[in-house]
Amino acid sequence: MAEASGRPAVLPRTMHQRRHILDLDDFSRDEIVRVFDAADSMREVMQRDIKKVPTLRGKVIVTLFYEASTRTRVSFEIAGKALSADVVNLSASGSCVSKGVSLVDTVRTLEAMGIDAVVVRHSASGAPYLMAQHLRTSVINAGDGWHAHPTQALLDLYTMRGHFGALDGLKVVIVGDVLHSRVARSNLWGLHTMGAEVVVCAPPTLVPAAWRAGCEPQVEPPPSRLLPPVRLSYDLDEALPGADVIMVLRLQRERQQSGLLPTLREYSRRYGVNAARVALARPNALVMHPGPVNEGVEIAPDVAHGAQSVIEEQVRNGVAIRMALLYQLLGGR
Ligand code: CP
Repeated sequence: MAEASGRPAVLPRTMHQRRHILDLDDFSRDEIVRVFDAADSMREVMQRDIKKVPTLRGKVIVTLFYEASTRTRVSFEIAGKALSADVVNLSASGSCVSKGVSLVDTVRTLEAMGIDAVVVRHSASGAPYLMAQHLRTSVINAGDGWHAHPTQALLDLYTMRGHFGALDGLKVVIVGDVLHSRVARSNLWGLHTMGAEVVVCAPPTLVPAAWRAGCEPQVEPPPSRLLPPVRLSYDLDEALPGADVIMVLRLQRERQQSGLLPTLREYSRRYGVNAARVALARPNALVMHPGPVNEGVEIAPDVAHGAQSVIEEQVRNGVAIRMALLYQLLGGR
């Protein structure tokens, strides 16, 4: 049922109104909880026969993806449409971007057409921040370079909360190519804010240099002021006992060509998550992966599709979280 304002009665009013979603480093614990509470209501909408509410009728959202995406782009489109917004998808190859028009000029052109929000993915770290400086329109970071992927981290945290009720005290082991992972960085902020203990596990060549400098495995925190404290381990078998969550990161195969890994076989042997390694964690531990998954490299197929895997649930929750964020940015005004 909708109120006169068009806001579904199930949704709480937002207390704090933010303009942009750029990373989780400026999200308070209360704000993250409010996103989760709104996502609970959105999940209920998505379980109806008619998955549509009028909340964002008349709003226009543009998705602007300069890099490939399946999950993030499509879930934003589904989320916007379920809230009755008009969603326009623009890819770099199908726009004036391919004629050399700058990012800022592109989004200024879009803004002149009266859009309300732009969801952007870009290979350059910081691109959404540049846009936010030049636009009145809301900017949502859908992944910038190696830097941040805040909506992925929120859906990851929301999935954990769905299983454990709260994140305080959970032990989360993030394993894989942390160096190049925007997912890992945003999760570190969110997990830290929500009170989880994080262990990062990777080969030394796939850990940011600032974390390694003077930092032997097992020493915390890493000497970096750019991220919250984490424990670093180079040994997955040592890191896993007591883990509530194993978050596996995609191994970006191109890293092998750049000399950061000896062979994929060696990587899988030392850092691949297989059934024997899952058994080292707590019995009810969750296995997570943001996707896309390289089965047989960073995760064994039987683990990716096994009873402890919540990879599909993460994708499902991605729609509810993105609906919640769009509602809070555009609907609570
Ligand atoms: N997790 C994630 O960002 O997936 P996509 O690249 O498919 O959007």
